[in-house]
Amino acid sequence: MQTIPAAPRPTPKLRRPDIPFHEGPIPRHWFGGSALATHMVNGLNLLFPDGERHFVKSVRYFRKAIDDDPMLAHEVAGFYAQEGSHAREHQRFFTILEEQGYELDEFLGEFRHSLRVLQRILPESVQLAGTAAAEHFTAIMANHALESRFLDDADPKVRHLLLWHATEEIEHKAVAYDVLQRVEPSYLVRVLGMAVASLFLAYWWQRGTRLFLRQDGLGGRELRAERKRLRALRQDDTNVVRDVFLRGIAEYVRPGFHPWQRDDLHLAEAYLREARMA
Ligand SMILES: [Fe+2]
Ligand SMILES: [Fe+2]
Repeated sequence: MQTIPAAPRPTPKLRRPDIPFHEGPIPRHWFGGSALATHMVNGLNLLFPDGERHFVKSVRYFRKAIDDDPMLAHEVAGFYAQEGSHAREHQRFFTILEEQGYELDEFLGEFRHSLRVLQRILPESVQLAGTAAAEHFTAIMANHALESRFLDDADPKVRHLLLWHATEEIEHKAVAYDVLQRVEPSYLVRVLGMAVASLFLAYWWQRGTRLFLRQDGLGGRELRAERKRLRALRQDDTNVVRDVFLRGIAEYVRPGFHPWQRDDLHLAEAYLREARMA
């Protein structure tokens, strides 16, 4: 079993990238000209602003319970600030998608409603456990985006949005998990949170992706051809189900799991230096 790195954990820091989305056009299929690759990421993008506000809310329920741990309270404050900033920048990107002609309001309304239902029916500890698990998925995706450079084919502004977001997801990847361990260390609740997060993310991500594909008028035959073309073009053979969901679940349900058992902070630091945001 790996151990938690002895090095001090990073304090999540607020940065304001103010990405100049309106300086020059962003192509409709901004990810290497591929509708499928673009819309898989666009579909995930749709979940960020409201999803991240929910993450903040689920940690906030327990703010009084961590008052006596100043270091954790400080990390939590950084987590709120970073997630707020991610929500804001992704929301700004929605304006571009709407200008490209995509209709997002109905989907966003339904997604928001489903989060409100979760908040009504699930105990606060399970909501927090869901957030801790979702943060594990975002950390896996962030690690992959920064390590594989698979976004090199993307429009530079959208690439920066995603890679800046990725660096901060790595910086704060253990915050919700550490709060959960402190306020509700039950293994059962942790695993239940993973079940909720996996089902919820998988369901809404595929719906978001389909929303864009449908609005582009892409049917089954075009998508099969596109999938074939992508496989031939791509350097890496990333498979979201295998590399994000199955791997994420397998790591997370190990009894001694901790997010910092994978010390990948250097990936975040390298990009922040490259983008002059360090
Ligand atoms: Fe985020
Ligand atoms: Fe996050």
